[in-house]
Amino acid sequence: MTELTITTPDDWHLHLRDGELLANTVPATAEVFGRAVVMPNLVPPVTSVEQAEAYRQRILAQRPPENNFQPLMALYLTQNTSLETVRAAAQNPHVIGFKLYPSGATTNSDAGVTDVDGLDNVFAAMAELQVPLLVHGEVTTADIDIFDREKVFIDRHLRPLMQRHPNLKLVLEHITTADAVAFVESQGSNVAATITPQHLLMNRNDLLVGGVRPHNYCLPILKRRDHQLELRRAAVSGSPKFFIGTDSAPHAQSKKETACGCAGCYSAPAALPLYAEFFEQMNALEKLEDFASGFGADFYGYPRAATKVTLVREPWRVPEVVSTAVGPMVPYWAGNLLNWQVK
Ligand code: NCD
Ligand code: ZN
Repeated sequence: MTELTITTPDDWHLHLRDGELLANTVPATAEVFGRAVVMPNLVPPVTSVEQAEAYRQRILAQRPPENNFQPLMALYLTQNTSLETVRAAAQNPHVIGFKLYPSGATTNSDAGVTDVDGLDNVFAAMAELQVPLLVHGEVTTADIDIFDREKVFIDRHLRPLMQRHPNLKLVLEHITTADAVAFVESQGSNVAATITPQHLLMNRNDLLVGGVRPHNYCLPILKRRDHQLELRRAAVSGSPKFFIGTDSAPHAQSKKETACGCAGCYSAPAALPLYAEFFEQMNALEKLEDFASGFGADFYGYPRAATKVTLVREPWRVPEVVSTAVGPMVPYWAGNLLNWQVK
């Protein structure tokens, strides 16, 4: 196969950041993807519908001419999120749901949730109004090893949450473990998961063997190979519960290559070719379309795109560095070959 035409994909988990960087991040995604769920972990966080609307306008202002990219805004859940905000979110067509960051779990999560159970009335309202809850599933306490944080979050918080609110629409974001795959598979069709390219293509050896690789450092952290293999199985299984979400998370080169580097892989410049690489490795290119362009839209209740994109099998090298408004950035997979490119 040398050409592959699929329905235009969507990115169900994306960090665009704000300010001048939008001039780089918005076109990078909008040139390939029709819609994207835009993460709200700005400083200050996007906690209200009004803030989300203003942020959406800043994003739309950077859309290339004639491009119809649609940002779908996630609101940042805090310990103070009110029922009124849940109702306002339910009524707003541009807001897709709430993102739960356990406080301290990741980049700009300080304002996140400190007591999941304390928000039970908010989750009840979300379940009733069918407002999706998007979850960064990691505990943050010092006594739990970083490689176990996803599994412990699922056991401590997610299973009980779904028992209390069986109709809650929940997406476990950027899953990294066999435990997460098993949890999602054990739940009804109202529970799904996104999977990033780095968690499909890599495991913790790619982070640590032969030297520490800051550009492969993201959260949740890459896990051991057994877990990677289970994610790979889930992604090609044809189950509609698993779909694309790049978690493209740009940080300046200087913030990654330093003594205390930021977490996040800037995958947007090569996002769809990265997934194509994975599906080709699995001999399952015919499964790419549902994963990238179908299951996520179905889950969230959006129509699949009416437009198409074409990938061609012409190997290319991801640039070592891309220049942005905030300085050089090293994209994920920098300097390495990919077999497929977007025509
Ligand atoms: C993300 C970021 O930089 O905003 N980083 C990451 O490693 N994935 C936040 C997140 O999704 O955890
Ligand atoms: Zn993210």
